[in-house]
Amino acid sequence: MVEPTKLIMSNHLLKTAEAVLRANWRDGFTIPCEGLYPFQWNWDSGFIAIGWAHVDMEHAKSEIRSLLSGQWKNGFIPQIVFHNPSDSYYPGPDVHEAYVSPNYPTAKQTSGITQPPVLGFVLEELHAISDEKILDFIAEVYDDVYRYHQYFYTHRDPNKEGLVYICHNWEAGTDNTPVWDEIWEIMDTPDIPTHRKDNTHIDSSNRPSNREYQHYIYLLQLFKEWGYDDRSIAEYSPFLVQDPLFNAMLVRSNESLISLGKLLQKHDHVKQLETWNVLSRDNFHEKLYSEEKKAYVYYDVRNDRKIDHVSSSSFVPMFARIPSSDIASTMIQTYFEKGAFSGKDDELYLCASFDPSHVAFDPKRYWRGPVWVNVNWLIYRGLKRYGINELASKVKQQTLQLVAQNGFYEYFDPRKSVQDALGHGYGGNNFSWSAALTIDLLKEKTN
Ligand code: SER
Repeated sequence: MVEPTKLIMSNHLLKTAEAVLRANWRDGFTIPCEGLYPFQWNWDSGFIAIGWAHVDMEHAKSEIRSLLSGQWKNGFIPQIVFHNPSDSYYPGPDVHEAYVSPNYPTAKQTSGITQPPVLGFVLEELHAISDEKILDFIAEVYDDVYRYHQYFYTHRDPNKEGLVYICHNWEAGTDNTPVWDEIWEIMDTPDIPTHRKDNTHIDSSNRPSNREYQHYIYLLQLFKEWGYDDRSIAEYSPFLVQDPLFNAMLVRSNESLISLGKLLQKHDHVKQLETWNVLSRDNFHEKLYSEEKKAYVYYDVRNDRKIDHVSSSSFVPMFARIPSSDIASTMIQTYFEKGAFSGKDDELYLCASFDPSHVAFDPKRYWRGPVWVNVNWLIYRGLKRYGINELASKVKQQTLQLVAQNGFYEYFDPRKSVQDALGHGYGGNNFSWSAALTIDLLKEKTN
């Protein structure tokens, strides 16, 4: 039986999490955070839909339909759908200028880059949360999500390896991870003006640097020059990376589309997805696993080299059941059991977004060290797939502790002593996916 005080606390947490989602709800979709992120973001929406599914399935469906309203003619689903005008965010649609692409949608303004493909597995989560009636909705959107995967395998995998590239750090989701530093160093980015708004909302010591923003905007300028043409990007983009989190999302979402496709009798789709997934799985471990680091790392396609840094993305392939059980347990022993990510005396919250033993680790700065709820959720679910239940429970418990003690912040300091004394997190407060995934963790049927 659950202790009464614990029950009251978790009921309170559930209510406040739901209130965050309701406050961030706009006309048919959810913004990630008031002021800081005033539009609809691709992978945010996926995680947010999982939270909505527990409290209001119609909102979950609407979230996904709204995102798909920005889908491009070639199946591509953008990172941002600019449903409404707002001057609180940079770069807006006038900077992305993605309309130069012949594939640009007619219905909505969008950015011209994407984000980790979570939609496939999100549909499977909705199916698990709901009853049979959700199948009608899944049938309605299935082909659109399938076309997104088809886009990746057709346009983002020029060497037919089953591993797709990202061409912008914002596509990774982990915007300013130190992993990119080696790419920025050799990129010839001019000293261009940026017109940042993020630092008017958030302390700049918690955000990417101005120089990093110049790289981000310079890449967009190149893509515009090339009409957001995938072939030109594949040939010339100075940033071209196979990212372990991004590819794990694709493989896991393939799996989900295969299971759901069987229920919907989509035999041809299922066959194609199985073919893609076999290729992806075969090459994932082969190309992105580092024997030396004992974890998954990044492949810099442009410069034909591994970038051997360990970040929280290095552990996410467990969510797609990529590593063998032996590899997964070695990875966990190396990094979590008194390893760099736990600290020598367990003094760190799991899971820092970048290797705490590395000189570039910065526990306060966005994706250079802080703990993120969505990645913890992915790691938690990954560990469960391997039956590594004790550690999984620890990740879940620490995630809930962070939001319960500090609020639904965007990210948190991994140093327990610092975070516990702070009483708040970093970045945006009332952050939608932190709230949505808290709901999912609390509503989980089996522990
Ligand atoms: N996370 C990005 C930003 O900070 C957008 O995807 O603007």
